[in-house]
Amino acid sequence: MDILARIEQALDAALSQHEVPGAPPRLAAAIRHAVFPGGARIRPQLCIAVARACGDDDPALADAAAVALELLHCASLVHDDLPCFDDAATRRGRPSVQAAYGEPLAVLAGDALIVRAFAVLGEAARRSPQRLGPVLATVAGGTGTPFGIVAGQAWECEPRVALADYQRAKTGALFAAATAAGAEAAGAEGRIWRGLGDRLGEAYQVADDIRDVLSDPDVLGKPIGQDVLLGRPSAARELGLDGAIFHFQSLVAQAIAAIPDCAGAPRLRALVWMESERLVPKAWCEDAERRRALA
Ligand code: IPE
Ligand code: IPE
Ligand code: MG
Ligand code: MG
Repeated sequence: MDILARIEQALDAALSQHEVPGAPPRLAAAIRHAVFPGGARIRPQLCIAVARACGDDDPALADAAAVALELLHCASLVHDDLPCFDDAATRRGRPSVQAAYGEPLAVLAGDALIVRAFAVLGEAARRSPQRLGPVLATVAGGTGTPFGIVAGQAWECEPRVALADYQRAKTGALFAAATAAGAEAAGAEGRIWRGLGDRLGEAYQVADDIRDVLSDPDVLGKPIGQDVLLGRPSAARELGLDGAIFHFQSLVAQAIAAIPDCAGAPRLRALVWMESERLVPKAWCEDAERRRALA
């Protein structure tokens, strides 16, 4: 089965299991709204692509890791859009969960997704129980403290932060968890796969900062201009737009160079290239090169 179909099916199964009579229906609807229709599904794709590169001998555990990562990512977006964070009314081209269901259900939907993510992992460990510990620790590390998404968002409450620390925690950590957990779900060493996720995740956040300036809200499906409006540290604000584009290109090159030598390497390189061109179109890079040549 193709990777995206595998991910959608596993996500649907993870939510359907709890959509039962007797449970609060608006909470179930808010949870589904947070997950479907999805965005790029880049984190679970990365996780399964690495699991395949490592043999994918326990696909149920690799699927569970991919689902857990995407549920955690969706939870982070639901919470990120809350009035106390970015107060965003749109996400993925439609009302954010808080706009559609209100703030209390958005807090609870995010909470429920976090709990569900870890439950899904526990339920999938039957075939290879010895792999559950490393996968759990990896996924928890990408999400919580001291260096996961929670810590990344918390940097916004500090008077000073280094841009790379903020971006690596808020976005890079879950990407690094995606690559490491993909390997661990297949019984391989996670550590050597972290470099790819770490570099690609930072590139992804730098691209998000560039798109916040150059893109269109209809293309992105979320508001633009938010980094300046909310006073967030951003690559475009710190390095200038062209500087941010060159930094992005350098991070993508580092991500590709970090892919360990293996049979799945060409497929992973293709995935990274495809994503990088989707995020920052070639025309933007060429414009930046032209300006540099003229300067
Ligand atoms: C958005 O992530 C938040 C960032 C970390 C940049 P994505 O761009 O992966 O969001 P979706 O899942 O595709 O909507
Ligand atoms: C969100 O960062 C990343 C999370 C960890 C939730 P941003 O606030 O920059 O992402 P968008 O632009 O709302 O997707
Ligand atoms: Mg934010
Ligand atoms: Mg935001």
